[in-house]
Amino acid sequence: MAEHGEYVKACGICHLEAGEGVPGAFPPLDERMTRWSGTEQGRRYLVNVVVNGVNGQLEVNGVSYFSAMPGMAHQLTSGQMAALLNFVIVQFGDGEAVFTESSLDEIRTTNGAVSSLGLRPN
Ligand code: HEC
Repeated sequence: MAEHGEYVKACGICHLEAGEGVPGAFPPLDERMTRWSGTEQGRRYLVNVVVNGVNGQLEVNGVSYFSAMPGMAHQLTSGQMAALLNFVIVQFGDGEAVFTESSLDEIRTTNGAVSSLGLRPN
C-alpha cells in the first residue's frame, strides 16, 4: 500500500488529501473504491482509470462531473498504481488491499485500450 505522501503527489493533488474531491470538478474517492474493488468489472474499471484516464460524464452522489483525468501509464509503474489503488481502497473505502503488481499487469493486458466509461460499474 502506498503512503499518504505518495497518494497526495499522484492523486490527492486533484482528489484532495482525504479523497474528498471538489464537487463538480474532481469526484470524491470514497466507498465506491471498495465496492468496485470487489468485482471483476470494478477492478477493471479502477485499473483502467489510472492507466488510461477517464473522460466524459460521471455522476457521483447526485453531482455531475464532465471533465477528464489523464492516464498515468507513463508516470507510474504497475507496482505504484497497485499501491495507490490499495491506498484509496483501504483509507477512503475502509476495505482491503486487493491489487498486486502482477494482478494489475494482468488486468492491464485484459483491458488493452478500452475506454473507461464503458467499464464503469453503477
Ligand atoms: C489531474 C487531476 C487528477 C489526478 C492527478 C488524478 N485524478 Fe482521478 N479523476 C480526475 C477527474 C477530473 C476525474 C473525473 C473525470 C470525468 O469527469 O470524466 C477523475 C476520476 C477518477 C476516478 C473515477 C471516479 C468515478 O466515479 O468513476 C477514479 C477511480 C480516480 N479518478 C482515481 C484516481 C487515482 C487513484 C489517482 C492517482 C493515481 C487519480 N485519480 C489522479 C482528476 C485527477
